[in-house]
Amino acid sequence: MTDALKLGFGPFTAPAKGVIVVFCDEGLKFGPATRKTLGSVLNQVERAAKVERFTGKKNSALELIVPAGLKAERLIVIGLGKTAELRSKDFLKLGGLATGKLPNSASHATVFAEMPGGGMKTEQAVDLAQGARLRAYAFNRYKTKRKDDEKPPATRVMTIAVGDVAAVRKAYEPRSAISDGVMLARDLVNEPANVLFPEEFARRVGALKKRHVAVEVLDLKAMKKLGMNALLGVGQGSGHESRLVVMRWNGGRAGGPPIAFIGKGVCFDTGGISIKPAASMEDMKGDMAGAACVVGLMHALAARKARVNAVGLIGLVENMPDGHAQRPGDIVKSMSGQTIEIINTDAEGRLVLADVIWYAAQRFKPKFMIDLATLTGAIIVALGQEYAGMFSNNDQLAERLTKAGMETGELVWRMPLAPEYDKMIDSKFADMKNTGGSRWGGAITAAQFIKRFVDDKIPWAHLDIAGTGFDSRQTDINRSWGSGWGVRLLDRLVADHYEK
Ligand code: BES
Ligand code: MN
Ligand code: ZN
Repeated sequence: MTDALKLGFGPFTAPAKGVIVVFCDEGLKFGPATRKTLGSVLNQVERAAKVERFTGKKNSALELIVPAGLKAERLIVIGLGKTAELRSKDFLKLGGLATGKLPNSASHATVFAEMPGGGMKTEQAVDLAQGARLRAYAFNRYKTKRKDDEKPPATRVMTIAVGDVAAVRKAYEPRSAISDGVMLARDLVNEPANVLFPEEFARRVGALKKRHVAVEVLDLKAMKKLGMNALLGVGQGSGHESRLVVMRWNGGRAGGPPIAFIGKGVCFDTGGISIKPAASMEDMKGDMAGAACVVGLMHALAARKARVNAVGLIGLVENMPDGHAQRPGDIVKSMSGQTIEIINTDAEGRLVLADVIWYAAQRFKPKFMIDLATLTGAIIVALGQEYAGMFSNNDQLAERLTKAGMETGELVWRMPLAPEYDKMIDSKFADMKNTGGSRWGGAITAAQFIKRFVDDKIPWAHLDIAGTGFDSRQTDINRSWGSGWGVRLLDRLVADHYEK
């Protein structure tokens, strides 16, 4: 549910109406096209900057309404700070800021993608455009009443002025596909659980077929036959049936091994019989953010025709406490053959992942596997909402993810795995138990649990996105609760290392 922002590109010409957005550095210096367009307005800008103590610091802004000498009704100046230090994620933020500064009344905006040294490079302009569009996303599907002054115009046209219009347009196309993936993930996370239960989630993934993604849905019978009792145990207390969805995109060498992405898709997590307290339980409609990211990523890869073979697998369940629900003390046999004693039914995500990861490895023999899951409150205690926790059995994969994180701004921080933590999940009655028993190192014992279902010959990374998958931080490129976190990160990882 994007608030319509029609984004396009054009040359550096003065707009006849609407808002004009320009950039300057810390010395209040503007690029040549910007100077030419502003002309005598530059004097007003300097006076206003003094009054407002605006110095062009990164992400600061100055506004002039009906500046004399411009046809545009409003001029917004955004500070770049020190331009030499700007990287990809910074341009994204600046674009987000440009959208964010537009008043609700504005239906037309022209953004001059120029720095003091001249026009932004193609990739920088594309980052700017993507940030502007991502910021415009809003989830308003269920709002039937909005005050007039809250309403943005029905359509808003934004033109990004650049030097080489054709080049930027071309480079923007795949990026636009990635943004669509991010917004698809956000939509899924924001949807309430009465609407988005496993079957409905699976149905929506079907839309990827239009992009030539093969979509397969495994129902209860199919999963029973495969012996996925760890996953099925989680869903057995719900009125909604569980599902496993397999997505395949073959853009790479025919028959070449795929890379695999696996998502936790708990459509609602009450905790089950080990029920959660009421405070913030509504947030648990977002306990499928890992699955949403995998779907958004598969959309992005297919829509930009990535030259890679990729599979996405999501385990969709609802963790509810009815008379058929799983109990603490129950022992289940996972598809891998390993048995699990359920200590706490609220540690359900790892049970879902155990079977899906095992299945993914058996069936696809992937080059690597990355799973994403809103797995533990403990990772939020450790890292807050800035970084996702990363656990990996492979240094190269971990380093690549770390780098992709620094470029995209979707940051990951590597956490430890070690036999001492693994011991904490040994069980008296079964091969393992589903919690460490203590809250200490809770994100790590969860990762150790998953590791028991990973063939160590396959490079694997587990991303605990409990802190980053949904939040209300109101960042520059996202104002919605569902963040769509991970789509840009993983797309970048693929683009940088795995496309032939
Ligand atoms: N879905 C939760 C983790 C979570 C908490 C995600 C808050 C986002 C925000 C997960 O299923 C869970 O309940 N984990 C427990 C594990 C514990 C019982 C070992 C937790 O973190 O408390
Ligand atoms: Mn839980
Ligand atoms: Zn959960």
